[in-house]
Amino acid sequence: MSIVLERPALSETASPWWRSAVIYQVYPRSFADSDGDGVGDLPGITARLPYLSGLGVDAVWLSPVYRSPMADAGYDVADYRVVDPLFGGSEDADLLIAEAHRLGLRVVLDLVPNHTSAEHEWFRAALDSPAGSPERARYLFRDGRGESGELPPNTWRSVFGGPAWTRVNGPDGTPGQWYLHLFDDTQPDLDWTHPQVREEFEDILRFWLDRGVDGFRVDVAHGLIKADGLPDWDHEQELLDGSGPGGTRPPMWDQDGVHDVYRSWRRLLDSYDGERMLVAEAWVEPAERLARYVRPDEMHQAFNFAFLSAAWRPADLRVSIADSLEASATVGAPATWVLSNHDVVRHTTRLTLPADAPRPNGIGATDPQPDEQLGLRRGRAASMVMLSLPGSAYLYQGEELGLPEHTTLPDETRQDPAWFRHDGTVAGRDGCRVPLPWHADRPGFGFSPTGATWLPQPESFGRYAADVQEGDPASTLELYRRALRTRADLGLGTGELVSWAGSDDAVLAFRVRGSEGGEVLVMTNFGPEPAVLPAGAHVLLSSSPLDADGALHTDVTVWLAG
Ligand code: GLC
Repeated sequence: MSIVLERPALSETASPWWRSAVIYQVYPRSFADSDGDGVGDLPGITARLPYLSGLGVDAVWLSPVYRSPMADAGYDVADYRVVDPLFGGSEDADLLIAEAHRLGLRVVLDLVPNHTSAEHEWFRAALDSPAGSPERARYLFRDGRGESGELPPNTWRSVFGGPAWTRVNGPDGTPGQWYLHLFDDTQPDLDWTHPQVREEFEDILRFWLDRGVDGFRVDVAHGLIKADGLPDWDHEQELLDGSGPGGTRPPMWDQDGVHDVYRSWRRLLDSYDGERMLVAEAWVEPAERLARYVRPDEMHQAFNFAFLSAAWRPADLRVSIADSLEASATVGAPATWVLSNHDVVRHTTRLTLPADAPRPNGIGATDPQPDEQLGLRRGRAASMVMLSLPGSAYLYQGEELGLPEHTTLPDETRQDPAWFRHDGTVAGRDGCRVPLPWHADRPGFGFSPTGATWLPQPESFGRYAADVQEGDPASTLELYRRALRTRADLGLGTGELVSWAGSDDAVLAFRVRGSEGGEVLVMTNFGPEPAVLPAGAHVLLSSSPLDADGALHTDVTVWLAG
């Protein structure tokens, strides 16, 4: 259904590929289902790689596909070297990697080092072994407080709600020690001060590098090392929020010891050819602290969640863009932009929420419902800001279709552990994980041959289906294609932001210079009044159609030549 662009082979260019790459996040269970069970799989992804190549992205990042009981949609890994049968077999992974490379696409896997599944053989062995045993030493088992150890070892809370500790019975059946889980109780945290843990993960990296993968997204990269003595911390965790009240640093996040782990991983990756890369999922503030993850001997990229979290206001976006460019430049790393992923409300929906409200963990049917048209308009405008910027950018599957969050999912269909651990008071992340619509007039919008979908899709998804957008110049899909083509042609990813323009409080305006020559003036109007475009401006692209009056209307981004 899409044209495969001519792409260069995976060659090493003057600037390493990851410095400017547009990387598309595939959430495998919701991308494309080939066998009709309602859950997406690897053959489904492989069959759609030409679509991604035609979109113009450089790489795909796959959320975890390893063997897992799926208590947290695969972020609970039972075996890091085996593909879960739900997604296919090991040979399906090889076929996917080979086909991606044939099309000129790199493949980035998701590595989950902070915790394993409770079904991992190490954790089973730990449960079968007594307190103080070597089997328990690879996790964070501690005695409880209180007279008979009946209270958790400290006051930490799980990111998904509830306490971060669970008590286990000893081999003789009596209540014994507690183990730490920053997430669900099925996701025990590993002890990263243990040499075996470090050796095991280096071996897992080698296993997949040898299979040809181009890099890893490192899950919870700021969480591996905990402060000595596990001191109390009484605050409720927001989803992976790396800072505490008044800028204090919680004892479970962003401890200095994590950097040693990434230095040794970098050495390992550098021993391979082909510019393999690491990207940190680290919810760390401020930007200078995040930049420590991308020092020259550590990771290559770190997601810029400050940009994702910025309010839809020119001053907020300007500060977040400027801070990020400045901080990453101090360590010589590219900025890494992102607006949506599988953990946050899709930006087409999020950007309609009140600017000063905290980012919600999901939206449910009883919450105020977003204005879908406004969201699409703002979402497209925000994406066109992001894609003009120097550095690398991540797209989350479906954003190229302008998909909104599913905000009315029936409660009984929800699967996010955060929903259960908050006793249904927090909607959680299922609304951004709904299977993609490929064909407007097929059952399940063409997600699977049987029409089955593991989460129900909203009726409105028909309007967003890829096939109805294909070839329609006004569609979001064609806008993304045009933007990615222009970005590549001008070398915007390897370019620079040369100046901030304009003095109007309602307009965000800046000039970028591409490495292939030429400047682009990027303007977004946030105010109610139309903004005037510079006389004689040549419009390269606009996020919504411009009126005949040639003015820039509210919530529209334009790229102007010259
Ligand atoms: C990361 C993942 C998220 C997962 C959590 C625990 O934040 O992105 O989906 O639930 O880690 O692994």
